[in-house]
Amino acid sequence: MTMTLCEMAVDVLTTADGRQKTAKSRDYAAQWIAARETDTPIPVGRADPPLRPARPDQPELLNPRDVPKRKPGSPQGRIALLHAVAHIELNAVDLHWDIIPRFAATPMPAGFYDDWVRAADDESKHFNLMCDCLEEMDSFYGALPAHAGMWRAAEDTVDDLMGRLAVVPMVLEARGLDVTPGMIGIFRKAGVTSAVAALETIYSEEVSHVAYGSKWFHFLCGRHDTDPIVVFHDLVRRYFKGALKPPFNDEKRAEAGLPPDFYWPLADQTPPRTR
Ligand SMILES: [Fe+2]
Ligand SMILES: [Fe+2]
Repeated sequence: MTMTLCEMAVDVLTTADGRQKTAKSRDYAAQWIAARETDTPIPVGRADPPLRPARPDQPELLNPRDVPKRKPGSPQGRIALLHAVAHIELNAVDLHWDIIPRFAATPMPAGFYDDWVRAADDESKHFNLMCDCLEEMDSFYGALPAHAGMWRAAEDTVDDLMGRLAVVPMVLEARGLDVTPGMIGIFRKAGVTSAVAALETIYSEEVSHVAYGSKWFHFLCGRHDTDPIVVFHDLVRRYFKGALKPPFNDEKRAEAGLPPDFYWPLADQTPPRTR
């Protein structure tokens, strides 16, 4: 019996081990995409996602305050940085699968599912790339503690699809576009070419995840005949604690369909004068 897309999503979400989770994620994504390409789509169906995804026993999850900070100039600091990115990527795998069954009661075009399945496949690849880099540096995912608060955004927006799109792809993943070039610089300076290549892959693919968020956010605003900027500001203020932090990557944000009037009014500074 073939599984529905929602059943596939719940299977990924309830798999604890990172490598196993991403293997299932990539396999299901390939099945969904192949079925769409041959015009024999897999039904979306319905299934109840867990409130929190299954996670491995390690890493230990700590309050962000208690996660030790390490200087990126040392090998230990670079391992900590890659470990933090691996943790973000594993959360992203779950976030992209979670949105499918969580909001399956909202009718959406098939392209909505294509986008999140593709994004989940990308994140699975990113997690594996980070694990490969860590192993090359004689470490592994789980060797260090990690942030406990990563699933917070998902829980806060558990019954609000537009809130989920505003906070996850359009705020959190957009932030990734701002900070990744600096990280690439750290590894380039240290001559760690495998991490540079992996982070460059992540950087180029993350633009599309922000773009998917913006696309479907605008779609839903159009459906409800509401002003996207007003709704976006309202939802981010409701669900995201604190101001957005410049400097912003205006170029990549624009490429992803996120113009300055979306994010600057939510920042703790005024935009630089450009005219
Ligand atoms: Fe990613
Ligand atoms: Fe992403």
